[in-house]
Amino acid sequence: MKILVTGGAGYIGSHVVRALVSAGHQAVALDDLSNGKQSRLGDTPLIQVDLASEKATALLVQAFKDHSIDGVIHLAARKSVGESVANPEYYYQQNLNSVTNLLVAMREAKVMNMVFSSSAATYGSPEVAQVAEDYNCQPINPYGETKLIGEWMMSSASKAWGLKTVSLRYFNVAGAGFSDLADTGVANLIPIAFNAIANEEPIQVFGSDWPTEDGSCVRDYIHVQDLADAHLAALDYLAQENREYSVFNVGTGTGSSVLAVIDTIHKVIGKDFAVDLVDRRPGDPAALSADVSRIESTLGWKAKHNLQDIVKSHYLATSN
Ligand code: WQD
Repeated sequence: MKILVTGGAGYIGSHVVRALVSAGHQAVALDDLSNGKQSRLGDTPLIQVDLASEKATALLVQAFKDHSIDGVIHLAARKSVGESVANPEYYYQQNLNSVTNLLVAMREAKVMNMVFSSSAATYGSPEVAQVAEDYNCQPINPYGETKLIGEWMMSSASKAWGLKTVSLRYFNVAGAGFSDLADTGVANLIPIAFNAIANEEPIQVFGSDWPTEDGSCVRDYIHVQDLADAHLAALDYLAQENREYSVFNVGTGTGSSVLAVIDTIHKVIGKDFAVDLVDRRPGDPAALSADVSRIESTLGWKAKHNLQDIVKSHYLATSN
């Protein structure tokens, strides 16, 4: 298939592009390069546009025709939980206008396959240790709201004009599948921690009084390479006639606390560094890890990498 990957020059998007090409698909990247880097794309074509802008729809319709696109993997979005709490309007404008423009253009150009990058943030602060897709989603930050609304938009398009769609609820993505594709955005725990160590500043732990085993927040860390492979499995699923589900968790099924991540970093780099236990961060749930039974049984996909692999791959990709 020929796939347009929005956010394709990004950390996750560039891994998805390489996985597509390795699997024999053709890829075209679309990115506004606000965070993405064209250097990550090699000879994959890039369409540079802000998907949330007025001109995006017409440009997309033309791009779909010019490149004979069969499907879209939509990753382009603002994704910082903390930033979304501080600036919700920006998140609604960016993340929802992008989806709207994309669906309008896909309907007009009759592009009928969509894999949507959703998020574990749709769940909010669940009362269960492991959350399954049928959990009653109650996002607690605007970022998570935009992802849940995005899923609803996919479902409505599917009912209205037959769009074949799958939403993947990413848990905490980290690591690097290639030495030139490290997560250089210092926006999530693992890159933030390595950046603090490099600057000889303490790593801040946001809350040590959470109702968890060691008092720090628990998350489900998924290797970006495993995540990219989940998109290939989702594309194959869209080609099937009968599709029972349209939403899948993408995680390992194992929760790791912030302190456990820090301990793993210590083991991987073999040197001491400072850690500060500070106040909780607004918008954080105590624990969030995935029930992965649906994706494993329906798509036949299972994460291959553990937390140590994730931390080590990030370290190797950023220490050269
Ligand atoms: C992880 C944990 C923090 C920084 C992410 C993405 C979001 C979505 C879900 C894909 C939290 C703690 C962090 C620090 C800390 N993914 N932390 N000190 O908030 O779980 O959300 O995954 O859609 O896009 O942002 O990720 O990396 O910000 O935080 O203690 O300096 O680490 O409190 O418990 P989060 P994160």
